[in-house]
Amino acid sequence: MKLWGGRFTKETNQLVHNFNASISFDQKFFRQDIDGSIAHVTMLAACGILTDEEKDIIVKELQNIKEEILDGRLEISPTYEDIHSFVEATLIERTGDVGKKLHTGRSRNDQVALDMKLYTRDEIREIDSLLKELLETLLNTMAENTHTYMPGFTHLQKAQPLTLAHHFGAYFEMFRRDRSRLADIYRRMNYCPLGAGALAGTTYPLDRSLTASLLGFDGPTLNSMDSVSDRDYLIELLSALSTIMMHLSRFCEEIIIWNTNEYQFIELDDAYSTGSSIMPQKKNPDIAELVRGKTGRVYGALTSILTTMKGLPLAYNKDMQEDKELTFDAIDTVKGCIKLFEGMIATMKINKDAMERSAKNGFTNATDAADYLVNHGVAFRDAHGIIGQIVLFCIEKGIAIDDMSLDELKSICPVFEEDIYDAISLKTCVNMRNTIGGPGEKAMAEVIGLCRQYLADTPALS
Ligand code: ARG
Repeated sequence: MKLWGGRFTKETNQLVHNFNASISFDQKFFRQDIDGSIAHVTMLAACGILTDEEKDIIVKELQNIKEEILDGRLEISPTYEDIHSFVEATLIERTGDVGKKLHTGRSRNDQVALDMKLYTRDEIREIDSLLKELLETLLNTMAENTHTYMPGFTHLQKAQPLTLAHHFGAYFEMFRRDRSRLADIYRRMNYCPLGAGALAGTTYPLDRSLTASLLGFDGPTLNSMDSVSDRDYLIELLSALSTIMMHLSRFCEEIIIWNTNEYQFIELDDAYSTGSSIMPQKKNPDIAELVRGKTGRVYGALTSILTTMKGLPLAYNKDMQEDKELTFDAIDTVKGCIKLFEGMIATMKINKDAMERSAKNGFTNATDAADYLVNHGVAFRDAHGIIGQIVLFCIEKGIAIDDMSLDELKSICPVFEEDIYDAISLKTCVNMRNTIGGPGEKAMAEVIGLCRQYLADTPALS
């Protein structure tokens, strides 16, 4: 059954029907479609547009339909144009003339705008709670690794020593911002488009505020044309999802590097690694690579919807139906990636010794050695040159600065004394950096406390 056809004299060409139909993907929000219809008829009855008896019959049957789809007794027939047609036709089949009143004062344009908003709102909540779990895992790892020394890098070259807690803390901040972006989007999008009709509102005396509050919105949208043609919130969401993927992807890149035979900073758990069909020795970081790889498809969804929307005149145009498939795919992709990434991080083995060795052998304390000279009266530019000579000496001998004898150090610069060794130990190098945001023990303890407080104060969106 079609929802239209009265003014047509011919059957729709089958290819046209197939091309036009969206039921293969918009059935994903059957629950939201039914919840929206229940709110709509409840409002219609409250406004005296439907009787209470009519409303009760419709609501009861809509609830039956929802339950039957959920438990598999009712199959969504792919022959319908979209999920809206399927639900309405099924309702009419079961309730006759009463069911025909459901669509009073409504268009599929405001209906689909509502369904998509309800669906994405639910998904934003879920993504936010997954991010929260990820942050908890990161914070636990941070708390356990405030003394796990490792090299910090710039240009992928060893730079200055820090700790694993500090390194993970950088990602904590990124995912914390991702959560706050989701919260912003949620707040901005949380207005109900139902009642906008096809584009110009309706002649029925609807109570749009009631519909909005029944569905948990902060209020009705204020322009009916904007209501049916706004997809900004999807663009914002896909942008936020792209940023989450970008963060995950950078983290994955580091995990892949750290997991190499050369680095061995970490070892991924067997349960989160894969093998090779030909090389028996291999244990590959496929999960990290896939998360990195899937970033592309989420970016693709963002580019796609930006392009779809850019030339559309007001108000509704069928182009907008293209807002769904890639958004659904992006949402599912991001959820899957966060979950798997979290499991991978929670189970990987951290090789503290390898990290510390790497920090020691990479001249990451060279800046601190220069600072030592500065503190003993040498001008920084001269100190920089002296330590440069020392590094050259060490490279030739294949040793670290700490391995040089005091005589060797003094032969290059007489200012060095026995306390140099303590001044350039990893522990000192890290713990001297104690202003907030730095890797030092005191600064890290303070930040970890603040992060814990943030998690306690910021429950998942609801
Ligand atoms: N499947 C359509 C969509 O996703 C529903 C709205 C149809 N409206 C219309 N005027 N043809 O956009």
